[in-house]
Amino acid sequence: MTADQALEPAIRVRGIVKSFKDLQVLRGVDFDVTAGSIFALLGSNGAGKTTLVRILSTLLKADAGTATIHGFDVAAKPGEVRESISLTGQFAAIDEVLTGRENLVLVAKLRHLKNPGAIADDMLARFSLTEAGNRKATTYSGGMRRRLDIAMSLIGNPPIIFLDEPTTGLDPQARIEVWQTVKELARTGTTVLLTTQHLDEAEQLADRIAILHQGIIIQNGTLAELEQLLPPAKVEYIEKQPSLEDVFLALVGDTTVPAGKEAR
Ligand SMILES: Nc1ncnc2c1ncn2[C@@H]1O[C@H](COP(=O)(O)OP(=O)(O)O)[C@@H](O)[C@H]1O
Ligand SMILES: [Mg+2]
Repeated sequence: MTADQALEPAIRVRGIVKSFKDLQVLRGVDFDVTAGSIFALLGSNGAGKTTLVRILSTLLKADAGTATIHGFDVAAKPGEVRESISLTGQFAAIDEVLTGRENLVLVAKLRHLKNPGAIADDMLARFSLTEAGNRKATTYSGGMRRRLDIAMSLIGNPPIIFLDEPTTGLDPQARIEVWQTVKELARTGTTVLLTTQHLDEAEQLADRIAILHQGIIIQNGTLAELEQLLPPAKVEYIEKQPSLEDVFLALVGDTTVPAGKEAR
């Protein structure tokens, strides 16, 4: 890494515009991602998250604007950008007939790395898949599969990883597993840009959250900064008629909630 790369953000996005025919998807997107941080791009379905990730990973050309990844311009230096990133999409690149370990060895060989077996074992350990390593990927749960997919994309140690909706379609337990994986990645210095439709995911993981809405970033800040945008909580005193539930509780004199009134 050169001195310049250390000083500038890992990802810099300026005025990115993209339309598909008459559909204006991105209308001037700006943000920076600090090296080693987790940045969440939050937006509803169809907001343009995948379109932006595809532009940043050189799979798609922007109509206007610039983006630099690890100091390399996506339009001028696509090869260098690709060497600096990994991309994990919503749909896993796993070969189901192979074991988890064989999938990892295959990727290491495709990238012409030395000791593919050792790299695979290291990844299995990092992603808590050692025990499952010699089982076929068909037998993996959703969370294991997503972890294997992320592990495969990290072979070669790219400094920046794009995770496009990494937990969409996963059950709650698997989501937590993937969250732990993502936190671990950032802890070891990888810059993570993840997209999500889920507020709780951004809240759990991200150092900064940017909200993509109608083609632009409408808010960008830490969770604490975004929370401050809400008006302060108001305290109001109102006279309240006791409900049947209040009467019931007063009469029976205990705190058991009547049937059908359990907290959800
Ligand atoms: N290749 C394409 N051709 C035409 N329209 C597209 C193409 N890719 C995406 N879109 C449209 O652009 C909008 C944004 O899509 P996308 O970036 O996938 O959103 P998100 O990932 O936030 O759900 C959607 O309306 C989608 O239908
Ligand atoms: Mg998408």
